[in-house]
Amino acid sequence: MTAAYSLQDYCSDLRTIAADTTAEDEILRRVGPLAQRFVADKSWLQPKHYETDAEQGFGVHLLHEEPDHSLAVLIVNWLPGRGTPPHDHGTWAVVAGLEGVERNVRYNRVDDGSRDDYAELEIKHEFDAPEGELVCMKTGGIHKVTNETDSITLSVHTYGRHVNHTNRSQFNLDTNERKAFVVRVE
Ligand SMILES: [Fe+2]
Repeated sequence: MTAAYSLQDYCSDLRTIAADTTAEDEILRRVGPLAQRFVADKSWLQPKHYETDAEQGFGVHLLHEEPDHSLAVLIVNWLPGRGTPPHDHGTWAVVAGLEGVERNVRYNRVDDGSRDDYAELEIKHEFDAPEGELVCMKTGGIHKVTNETDSITLSVHTYGRHVNHTNRSQFNLDTNERKAFVVRVE
């Protein structure tokens, strides 16, 4: 039997990793298995984490951030048929599936990056992320998440910094507009 792994345990391990290294490859390699262990535990999961935001299409609940907004852990629930626009995070990201299957599309940015309000993206990779699956991205990684199932889905998102404090972007595939992406967090 696997020992319990609480939010406190997870955050303690995140602090150790952040103190050891700023190399994102190493951070993602070390955080990933811990995020999988955290979502497997589920003792911390509460009914309020299923409370969603119909206007936004997904509900975001903050589980943890350090006082300087680093090492943020959020649980995100997704309404059926809803999702995000393509976006980046402005920091590293480790997403671990908790319940249901989430569709991920990863993108490459293919313009020269010379304009703040413009970006051209092309699809790099598309895949389904079920419970326990990891989606890991370094700073600059761009993806889109949708719930194409009939039930609410949940995933745990761990970031180097709370994404409402990273000046990150969302991308419009029709107009190539790039603009700020801030989410409502409970
Ligand atoms: Fe994301």
